[in-house]
Amino acid sequence: MTTAHPAAVVVLAAGAGTRMRSATPKVLHTLAGRSILGHALAAATDLEPLRTAVVVRHDRDRVVAEALACAPGALIVDQDDIPGTGRAVQCALSVLDAAAQAAAVADGVPDGAPIPAGIEGPLVVLAGDIPLLDAATLQSLVALHNNDRNAVTVLTTDVPDATGYGRILREAATGDVLAIVEHADASPDQLAICEINSSVYVFDAQVLRSALTQLGSNNAQGEVYLTDVLEIARREGGAIRALKTPDPMVVEGVNDQAQLAVLRAEFNKRILGAHMAGGVTIIDPATTWVDAGVTIAADVTLLPGTQLHGSTTVASGAQIGPDTTLTDVQVGEGAHVLRTHGSESIVGPHASVGPFAYLRPGTNLGTSGKIGAFVEVKNATIGESAKVPHLSYVGDASVGEHTNIGAGTIFVNYDGVAKHRTNVGAYARTGAHNMFVAPVTIGDGAYTAAGSVIRKDVPSGNLGLSSGPQRNLEGWVARRRAGTEAAQAAELAIAAGAVGSAAPLGAQARAERVQADVAHASDRPSSARPNPGHVTLDHDQVEAPHEGDSAR
Ligand code: UD1
Ligand code: MG
Repeated sequence: MTTAHPAAVVVLAAGAGTRMRSATPKVLHTLAGRSILGHALAAATDLEPLRTAVVVRHDRDRVVAEALACAPGALIVDQDDIPGTGRAVQCALSVLDAAAQAAAVADGVPDGAPIPAGIEGPLVVLAGDIPLLDAATLQSLVALHNNDRNAVTVLTTDVPDATGYGRILREAATGDVLAIVEHADASPDQLAICEINSSVYVFDAQVLRSALTQLGSNNAQGEVYLTDVLEIARREGGAIRALKTPDPMVVEGVNDQAQLAVLRAEFNKRILGAHMAGGVTIIDPATTWVDAGVTIAADVTLLPGTQLHGSTTVASGAQIGPDTTLTDVQVGEGAHVLRTHGSESIVGPHASVGPFAYLRPGTNLGTSGKIGAFVEVKNATIGESAKVPHLSYVGDASVGEHTNIGAGTIFVNYDGVAKHRTNVGAYARTGAHNMFVAPVTIGDGAYTAAGSVIRKDVPSGNLGLSSGPQRNLEGWVARRRAGTEAAQAAELAIAAGAVGSAAPLGAQARAERVQADVAHASDRPSSARPNPGHVTLDHDQVEAPHEGDSAR
């Protein structure tokens, strides 16, 4: 029986990947926002198989955790210490067969009927280290297998340098596939063949079950080769076919870091190509990186240096970049996000962010809102048309619609032990350089004065202010900073009768006078000059600032 969907997909991931020279198992290295194994499982899942099995051994627990994160229903197959891809599939098939038998028993096998030997129909095997393998290629392989009722269908390609790969042996006259010979076992003639085995196959489960029992390890590597199944199946009368893909990158395996980098760049190029085909403007594809899980609408513009990761979505008309990295961020229609680093956040339609903004998890910027230059936001909702334009930190807060937060404001959310929230109402106007010491609430339409430290709630319609009245200590500079440029400038200004400037003298003349006077003053012994690094105050004229200066 053949079915449109395969009976099972087996992903081989037991190998160590020693050439990666990494403490991380090869299949857990990432590209385009997913592990190599994750890509294999994504392609596998698209086939909608009845069962998925992942064969593991090296660094088992980490690989299992990733496999189950990507494909929660997958069967985990532990390969024993017999090496080789054939052994991996033997282990997988026995687990799959046991699962199929258990399911048949659970469904109720009719009295007298035999319990099935195991799974039936097409079974897909793929190496877990082929990240660019796409669902469409896999689907054509399965379709060819089903249409031709093959025993085995193998995905192949021609490569300029076949070193290390298994070679496809064909009959000269007919072109029929005869067998696969591994590089280590190949004769010089066979080494000249440039059609290679990709390690992606569809097997008829019954043929595979029978052939697997006949595998040995009498070869150059002493391993149980899955590739030997082809010759065995052909001897038993099955049809062995190959689907040759014209695109070698689709079947390229990762073996070392350099190969991974090449495939990562190629994958990115293909992702960007698909987005551009869908109407996205990408100014500089060479510096733009977009993960496989990102959604971008038509008429979005990505400026140079943009990186979109995870499950980021960007709605139509939005403009991202330059130099912006967003991970799991939803960007609304027509929004602008400029030189920003953000994660797990929402940017509402027509909102604007940056330059130099930092959106930490839980940021939710409303429609037409603004998070401006040098602003960090965390776990905070900023309402529709509300603005945090400059140099601020907003943490654990909500800011109501149409409210404006003054420049240089800090939401003081942490008391050293716990985090607290600040709620600012709608249409509020908070002064520059405020601190909101949470927990605290600013009512709708309230104002706060510049420089305030707001520790108590400000009810709606109130002005909250905490700074004391300003005092000016008359003549302080002349007494305490005699001989400095400031003192000379002040003296000139006072002599000229101006409060704040030396109006009667031109700027040039004033500068010359000041410099001459300072040069003269510096002729004096140094003990007579004030120490410019040390500020002294007239003790009788200065009170310690205290709380309560502000209006209550
Ligand atoms: C294999 C093929 C070769 C093909 C090449 C394509 C065999 C014998 N050879 O060679 O024809 O051209 O892939 O890349 O199959 N694995 C296990 N258990 C094992 C050994 C390997 O699960 O005991 C897994 C690995 O984790 C990997 C995949 O099988 O995902 C392929 O193994 P690898 O050692 O890379 O095989 P190659 O020598 O490259
Ligand atoms: Mg390999």
